[in-house]
Amino acid sequence: MRHLLSITDLSVEEIDALLETAADIEANPEAYAHKMEGKKLATLFFEPSTRTRLSFEAAMYELGGHVIGFAGASNSSAAKGESVKDTVRTVGCYADIIAMRHPLEGAPWAAVQAATTPVINAGDGGHHHPTQTLADLMTLKKEKGRLDHLKIGLCGDLRFGRTVHSLIEALSRYPGNEFVMISPRELRVPGHIVADLAEAGIPYKEAEALEEALPDLDALYMTRIQQERFFSPEEYLRLKDSYILDEEKMRLAPADMIVMHPLPRVNEIDVKVDADPRACYFKQVFYGKIMRMALILKLMGETELPPKPGRVLITTGKQCKNPRCISSTEQGLEPLFYPVHQVMRHGQLTRIPTKYVCAYCDMEQV
Ligand code: CP
Repeated sequence: MRHLLSITDLSVEEIDALLETAADIEANPEAYAHKMEGKKLATLFFEPSTRTRLSFEAAMYELGGHVIGFAGASNSSAAKGESVKDTVRTVGCYADIIAMRHPLEGAPWAAVQAATTPVINAGDGGHHHPTQTLADLMTLKKEKGRLDHLKIGLCGDLRFGRTVHSLIEALSRYPGNEFVMISPRELRVPGHIVADLAEAGIPYKEAEALEEALPDLDALYMTRIQQERFFSPEEYLRLKDSYILDEEKMRLAPADMIVMHPLPRVNEIDVKVDADPRACYFKQVFYGKIMRMALILKLMGETELPPKPGRVLITTGKQCKNPRCISSTEQGLEPLFYPVHQVMRHGQLTRIPTKYVCAYCDMEQV
């Protein structure tokens, strides 16, 4: 049984094959219209969604299958205190595949410990969102013609913006890509992601000024400041309008730079930019449905276990320190960690005495 918890569960070759399947689905939808007849997808959304849930549901219907599920934790027995593992085990009695969104980081890793069906991570807290990345990759492939040798600007809330984390992990595996990560200091990309870039020798820059980065980009990936992840409302109010892409700023960008955004947008892209032919965020929405169709087909047809990253997981007798981690709340979930030997310090990859990182949410334990 295959699951998709993070984008690295798919090899580059598998991602390329999904893109090929998606292109064929787009060209020949009738050839796929009965592929999932008699099968059920369960959408378990413990957190709000418009695009991800509805595109999964549309994808399953367009493959001839059926959909069950809920669109909010308050509509499920999670509201009575049921655990993620018990929920997923229960739903496995009714459905053939599960797409799950949860506010706690690492929740899908807990889910697969009890799953009897493939599980797809449809977004876990501020951690990962691999199927948005599949939509993003199809957008880049269609609009830029390639997934390599691109200079990508990522702008906004790079700390809590899960789509950014998954996109960096995906594009890091294609040659020649560079990242310009534009954010306020408080909302920079998590240190473990930057450390991975540094360790792999992938060019990246952290910056605060969008205007300075714009003239040199192939794609600009805007993100919303994630209000729901802030502990302090004052901090959110202070940072919420850090970046607003408008027609004036678009004049600084190359004629062939595309603008992407996972959506929903609040006000970080002025609606007047929508008419600019470089605005691709509603195309991303459409490509998301097609890529989810390709993914459902793949996971429903596979029987092999995924290749696991070579991490040794250990227990330390301690709990994860991240209050947003699933291991903080889920009953019977053993806290697991992996060791790291180097981290980013003052912009440098630095060897350190061994530290431990949570295997569910990737937070360094300090
Ligand atoms: N991009 C995305 O995840 O949108 P939703 O929150 O509406 O699903």
